[in-house]
Amino acid sequence: LAHLLTLEGLPREILSAILDTAAPFTEVAEREVKKVPLLRGKSVFNVFFENSTRTRTTFEIAAKRLSADVINLNVATSSTTKGETLLDTVDNLCAMGADMFVMRHASSGAPYLLAQHLRNTRRDHIAVVNAGDGRHAHPTQGLLDMYTIRHYKKDFTGLTVAIVGDVLHSRVARSEIFALKTLGVPEVRVIGPKTLLPTDVEKMGVRVFHDMREGLRGVDVVMMLRLQNERMQGALLPSSQEYFKVWGLTADKLALAQPDAIVMHPGPMNRGIEIDSAVADGGNAVILPQVTFGIAVRMAVMSMLARR
Ligand code: CP
Repeated sequence: LAHLLTLEGLPREILSAILDTAAPFTEVAEREVKKVPLLRGKSVFNVFFENSTRTRTTFEIAAKRLSADVINLNVATSSTTKGETLLDTVDNLCAMGADMFVMRHASSGAPYLLAQHLRNTRRDHIAVVNAGDGRHAHPTQGLLDMYTIRHYKKDFTGLTVAIVGDVLHSRVARSEIFALKTLGVPEVRVIGPKTLLPTDVEKMGVRVFHDMREGLRGVDVVMMLRLQNERMQGALLPSSQEYFKVWGLTADKLALAQPDAIVMHPGPMNRGIEIDSAVADGGNAVILPQVTFGIAVRMAVMSMLARR
């Protein structure tokens, strides 16, 4: 791996290798000394042009556990507010000795632009990790979700997985679908209103349901999505109450899934809109373990990029 920009097109062997590499890193968290020296002497720059709680923080923890120096660019107080371009900003961070960029951006494709710029300026030794670009991809979220499923369900090949809600605007859903299909999940369902599903979503090899109760019947994994209002400029949005009534995950709807179904959510959750608190905090939810596993998965990705 030179960069991690998307899960689309990555073979099963690479996805499995990342998950396998992450496994021992979950044990690092339990040690008294939590550090390993794999990125000692390397500088990781977190450049987040969109807000984040989980991704930015777990990348920072992961890089520190790998013994890297971590620099968090505060975009809001940086000179981008004075008109400096993305690539000029990057050139300056390269001049400070960056070895890896972890980038989030509202524009789909921004991390590709960065990777291409590094190639064009003969700085191929610097790796780029996409931490979420527009509605396009969020590869490490997809990977940590696969890690979570494998942890609880052991094997992908007998599972039915449902992704529910605003798939249209979701970079997470796209990364999850590619990963689930590549890892051999036989049935991936997407459940939501027509207005929130891509018109060509069936081309991704999923079954489409517009009735949530029908779609949840018998599933092993339920992945809930937030309404991504920040990407819906001009759209006619349903009220929170209307949305929750039809598409919110409640205990009575979850009862249609397998009794041991796991409930996942990438966060941030909007309680009472796409998920009821009784479910979010209930016995089937693995939402906080997802966050914890994210540290190990991000350690795996960064350590594999560093040894290329
Ligand atoms: N899942 C996720 O990307 O969360 P953050 O926006 O808090 O990073």
